[in-house]
Amino acid sequence: MSKEAEGADNQSATRWKEEEYFYPAKEFTAQANLNDQAVLAGFSLEKFPDYYAGFADMLTWYKPWQKVFDASDAPLWKWFTGGELNASFNCIDRHLPHLANKTAIHFAPEPEGEKIEHITYQELFVKVNEFAALLRDTAKLKRGDRVAIHMPMVAELPIAMLACARLGLIHTVVFGGFSSSACADRVIDSGSRVLITIDAYYRSGKLIDHKVIDDEACQLAAAGGQKVETMLVWQRFAGKYSSAAPPVAGRDIVVGDELKKYYGARVEPEKMRSEDPLFLMYTSGTTGKPKGCQHGTGGYMAYVTAMSGMILDIHPEDCYWCTADIGWITGHSFIVYGPLALGGSTVIYEGVPTYPDAGRNWRIAQDLGVTIFHTAPTAIRSLRKVGPDEPKKYQFKFKLMATVGEPIEPEVWRWFEREIGKGQAVIVDTYWQTETGGFLCSTVPGIAPMKPGSAGPGVPGIHPAIFDEEGNVLPPGAEKAGNICIRNPWPGCMQTVWGDRDRFVANYFGRYNTKRDSKDWRDWPYMTGDGAIQTADGYFRILGRIDDVINVSGHRLGTKEIESAAMMVPEIAEAAVVAVAHEIKGSEPELYVSLKPGVSPSPEIEKKVADAIVFQIGKIAKCRKIWIVPDMPKTRSGKIMRRVLGAISNKGDVGNTSTLANPEIVTEIQNMVSK
Ligand code: WTA
Repeated sequence: MSKEAEGADNQSATRWKEEEYFYPAKEFTAQANLNDQAVLAGFSLEKFPDYYAGFADMLTWYKPWQKVFDASDAPLWKWFTGGELNASFNCIDRHLPHLANKTAIHFAPEPEGEKIEHITYQELFVKVNEFAALLRDTAKLKRGDRVAIHMPMVAELPIAMLACARLGLIHTVVFGGFSSSACADRVIDSGSRVLITIDAYYRSGKLIDHKVIDDEACQLAAAGGQKVETMLVWQRFAGKYSSAAPPVAGRDIVVGDELKKYYGARVEPEKMRSEDPLFLMYTSGTTGKPKGCQHGTGGYMAYVTAMSGMILDIHPEDCYWCTADIGWITGHSFIVYGPLALGGSTVIYEGVPTYPDAGRNWRIAQDLGVTIFHTAPTAIRSLRKVGPDEPKKYQFKFKLMATVGEPIEPEVWRWFEREIGKGQAVIVDTYWQTETGGFLCSTVPGIAPMKPGSAGPGVPGIHPAIFDEEGNVLPPGAEKAGNICIRNPWPGCMQTVWGDRDRFVANYFGRYNTKRDSKDWRDWPYMTGDGAIQTADGYFRILGRIDDVINVSGHRLGTKEIESAAMMVPEIAEAAVVAVAHEIKGSEPELYVSLKPGVSPSPEIEKKVADAIVFQIGKIAKCRKIWIVPDMPKTRSGKIMRRVLGAISNKGDVGNTSTLANPEIVTEIQNMVSK
């Protein structure tokens, strides 16, 4: 077994025995978008890339594309070249002739006393046009310019995204919970002159002042060389300004006031080339700063639309609720672009799932008649813990449920199926990444049986394989873990890392490509960075990351990012983050630091480090525990042995430590941690 694969195996707290299949209900299969087994034959590898033409046909094009796939700039693949389209047109305008008065977005505010807002396609059309006109005129932007959006879960967030898309602007949405510093990093890297935000929003019963964070983000961005010239501030309550930070003269525009001037404005959607970028989504990787995954227009839109149909089984008459945050890729692909491109009704819930109690989700589901429920294993674990009897009290009925973001334990899966799915819903465990735009592995819900804990085979069109260290493909049923790679390109894949082609090529293809000049896609398997096992039935069980990324509540955190935040504290000499298994979150970061000579440990230093992490990244990166240790366990060449620290934190076996430069430190740290 390769070193990496072994790492993946060790890292994973989710090894389990083979599970029994579950079969989709006949009622589901009968209505499924894809229920004809024969169709799958069309997705065999020999038929690549032509089978993707059908995906593009789900969109409306201004100008038809000429070529499905263009490999001339390998491995920066181009899709549907020659074609022109607009994402906003595909998500809105094209539905107006038949769906104008149907709900596009249901916005559920967190306070239950506030009414749920139902925005029809016609209303979405009006709102997006008016806001696009304001954006164009006030911010003087042109096609291809970047716009940063730092907003929570409110309907104005997709409105802002769709307005950008309408104008051909590249949006970069920063997760609402990210700190000013994390927002500034993204503003700087993307070169955004405009930042769209909101004054405040509700979370856990409190009205959070959000604009104040973005004032600080603007200062930090300016210090880092990127001035925010215009900040557009939405209001949580119409006509009322709810932030303690007043609008800054000459920079800030309160959207509600300004929009009045644009009553009735209509903006012709820009005719974008298929390969023009649609958005950037930053994500953590192996090295320091987050990288901007650049997603294109035609390929991405075709992919998320097809996946929303085939795997999530969205029909226009469904009420679809994905509980992810739009600030992550799941929200982009499967709250906004995919569901709206299909004319679906998508739910946006502002707050936390357990506010004011553990029945909240089920009241939303019952009131709106949600038919498709898409969530993360961490949310399921938490709902099972705090309100196991709640689902029974409400009359909702899901036809399909999807999970995403992390492996789901079979036991949790079965509880989900029985208690939330009420034994009737089909489940899809969707495995994919920010980089991949849409799903890589999942069962096709109307065709294939489900197996708890396994994501399933590659989705139609995706041909995954497990590679060992030498680049050999391990056959299904090999009972060996390895690196899961995708053998073929696909339209949803990111185009490149924003401004860093070399990083893109090295990161995703560096390991298994042996011919750097090759224009043949067969030479460029995509490396996901996950360890996995493939069983004889072709299903993949994902074991976890093989790189320096940890998964906390389904969110991706780079250990290097947390470590470099800790290193900003002057007293710190070294820092190492490990992932510790957690009942609800899957895992949690725990941090080890050593101090510079002459500095003594103190609670103040610990607090300084904790604050630095929250400031640099945000509360989501908060460490469970910060251990100030006299030294780090190191190899003779001076490399910190994170594996040993991880074993200590997880109360596991540290293995043979005799080859370390300082084996005595291991017992010392163990004593400290076990106290
Ligand atoms: C993990 C989220 C197991 C995996 C869409 C991947 C999963 C990382 C699953 C990407 C799943 C995602 N089963 N693990 N169904 N889905 N992962 O970029 O380690 O936030 O590489 O994208 O989450 O996280 P990201």
